[in-house]
Amino acid sequence: MAPRRKKIYEGKAKILYEGPEPGTLVQYFKDDATAFNAQKKATIEGKGVLNNRLSEYFMTGLTNIGIPNHFIRRLNMREQLIRQVEIVPLEVIVRNFAAGSIAKRLGLEEGTALPRPIVEYSYKNDELGDPLVPEEYIVAFGWANQQDLDDIVSLALRVNDFLSGVFYGVGIKLVDFKIEIGRIWDGDFMRLIVADEISPDSCRLWDVKTGQKLDKDVFRRDLGSLTDAYTEVAKRLGVLPANATNIKPTLIN
Ligand code: TMP
Repeated sequence: MAPRRKKIYEGKAKILYEGPEPGTLVQYFKDDATAFNAQKKATIEGKGVLNNRLSEYFMTGLTNIGIPNHFIRRLNMREQLIRQVEIVPLEVIVRNFAAGSIAKRLGLEEGTALPRPIVEYSYKNDELGDPLVPEEYIVAFGWANQQDLDDIVSLALRVNDFLSGVFYGVGIKLVDFKIEIGRIWDGDFMRLIVADEISPDSCRLWDVKTGQKLDKDVFRRDLGSLTDAYTEVAKRLGVLPANATNIKPTLIN
């Protein structure tokens, strides 16, 4: 059978297909989960459906407060139409509380409040395991210039304020998250926008009262059902009906 459409790129959790109009792509959310640079892998039924809806929810919220991003519209349970961008080869990480690699690197107890939000960058390169890089490397190797970095920090901190507030409103602490940034051109004019996805795969989310983890650490650290954790996040945000028992029943439109 001939392929239905052209695959542009396949990553660990998503596939990008050619879109229906120039400058667009279809982003397909897989059920695959990986951790520790794909040393740990699993297929988690329903994860793709949940992340498609959750990323739509956050990107639409960003649009509503004027933060440019790649989301155009949802196409179906697992796919969304997005703007084609040139991805800046960085993982832009924002941290509010110490956890994960910063806790390990600096010997901080997980959950320690940081003196201010910290923005850091990893170079997107699976073979190298996405190494942490300073701004000096980013500018020297031409992955982004100083003006781009100023714009990226500003975007990342606005996204942090928005997401922190949205999550706090449903009893969840945003410990840290990762975003990716894309370039788009209007003629000669280049703009940076939020791209990729925003979902519990790329955030650390702790219940405010109990500290229960509701993000991909559940998978990384074998803490229980990842689908249950993501379903809980979706329910609290009103993306799933509060009485849903799993992701198969109707999702709220
Ligand atoms: P880290 O503590 O492992 O450096 O991760 C910081 C945040 O970035 C955490 O929310 C998970 C997210 N992240 C990704 O989304 N993808 C990655 O490849 C890595 C390493 C982290």
